[in-house]
Amino acid sequence: MTTDMKQHANTNEPHDRVRIFDTTLRDGEQSPGAAMNLEQKLEVAALLDEMGVDIIEAGFPIASNGDFEAVNEISRRTKNAIVCGLARAGFKDIDRAGEALRPARRGRIHTFLSTSPVHMKHKLQMEPSAVLEAISASVARARQHTDDVEWSAEDATRTVPDFLCKAVELAIKAGATTINIPDTVGYATPQEYFELMKMLHERVPGAEKVIFSTHCHNDLGLAVANSLAGVLGGARQIECTINGIGERAGNAAVEEIVMALRVRKDRMPFTTGVKTEMIARASKLVSNVTGFPVQYNKAIVGKNAFAHESGIHQDGMLKNVETYEIMRPEDVGVKETALVLGKLSGRHAFRDKLQTLGYELGDNALQDAFRRFKDLADKKKHIFDGDIVAIVDDSVMRDHETIQVESLKVISGKGLKPSAELTLSVDGEMRACLATGDGPVDAIFNAIHQLYPHEAALQLFQVSAVTEGTDAQAEVSVRLEENGRTVTGRGADTDTMVAAAYAYVTALNKLLEKRLKTAPEALSVAQ
Ligand code: KIV
Ligand code: ZN
Repeated sequence: MTTDMKQHANTNEPHDRVRIFDTTLRDGEQSPGAAMNLEQKLEVAALLDEMGVDIIEAGFPIASNGDFEAVNEISRRTKNAIVCGLARAGFKDIDRAGEALRPARRGRIHTFLSTSPVHMKHKLQMEPSAVLEAISASVARARQHTDDVEWSAEDATRTVPDFLCKAVELAIKAGATTINIPDTVGYATPQEYFELMKMLHERVPGAEKVIFSTHCHNDLGLAVANSLAGVLGGARQIECTINGIGERAGNAAVEEIVMALRVRKDRMPFTTGVKTEMIARASKLVSNVTGFPVQYNKAIVGKNAFAHESGIHQDGMLKNVETYEIMRPEDVGVKETALVLGKLSGRHAFRDKLQTLGYELGDNALQDAFRRFKDLADKKKHIFDGDIVAIVDDSVMRDHETIQVESLKVISGKGLKPSAELTLSVDGEMRACLATGDGPVDAIFNAIHQLYPHEAALQLFQVSAVTEGTDAQAEVSVRLEENGRTVTGRGADTDTMVAAAYAYVTALNKLLEKRLKTAPEALSVAQ
């Protein structure tokens, strides 16, 4: 593969500039259990905007009132990035997206239709000629709302090449300014995807007027490699998500794409506008709001990505960091975990520390986080940055929840029947009970069930430590499933049982929110 230097596009940006199109809030949020509420979406969008991504795909406005509201509010607030809303080819979808994006400084409608034989026949049940007509009509309709229209050929990598060329040509003729070539099922290989991108540039009339985009899923673990191969083949936009979250095995990960382009500039001479020092913060935020833990050995943002355990490696690192490190931790915003504050530290030092960690809290949130910090300092000798991040993320998240844990007392041990005495506040009303279970966690979850009866089934219970040491805070993730919908909740505390209760209750709150916000039509349009 060589760099294709013939790319022209409808942009004044330098030829080597690759646009980062972040779809964490759309394709990322579609992964089972990753649902975010409005406030969380706004927080993620604000961080992405500050971080310098070029386009934020904020949601799928027709899917639910919640999605519409999120796209609409993100459109209103975003200062730099283009805000994008997804729409199927129907006019109702497109008009709803156009309406949601109306307040945006720069708004984009992203409309898509499947082009592969298997999708056209079985999913759409449409003849190829009808698909071509729908492409022209849908793009033209989107252009009535905005000049910035992206068209995607869903399942492009399994589409007959001649048909794909025709579809792309029609989309360009109808006014699309960005053409996306999704590897929807994560089937392509890098060489194949490179050749596909190159072929489209060479064969499609009008290709020089638009920007081509990659959108690669990770079913074979090739999403990042395929995206980069697409850029070498002429694409100048990459669609990706923070931490690689997304449908099934996920999407290409923003952090891996951006750092690969930065570290291997010698082989891939392209630039992005992303402030890489904000990567760790973005990763942590997305992990917190979705409840999806980041795998320890995940490239760039995993806990071990910059850790050196073996004696040989440590020895090499002490002599020269370049022996085992190809990028500096601070380039992705990873600071060495420092011993920071203790129980004598005051509010001022705490606020300063929060600022260096990138948090600006209002008075009430600061008060609450400070109180939790003091409680933690009473229990735990060494407070690390990770502890503070966990405290803040936890209190910010729990602040507005309908169901809250007020108190918990657990009794368990060898020869004892585990029991949990729990008080919840539900919409301000105090409810208390005593429940037993097969183990202490089971007793807590039974108590929650008694106080707030529900049908949700527990799918996952996972515990990890925020920092090192036996006094470390426990971080618990809980996944619940109800009527085919899954949500994940996360909780942190020095007491693993309290963290478990927080996590379960957070997941319940998410289900509650989903129930309230999901419009009936949402289920039928989920991709
Ligand atoms: O994977 C895919 O094909 C998509 C499209 C909607 C762009 O997410
Ligand atoms: Zn996708």
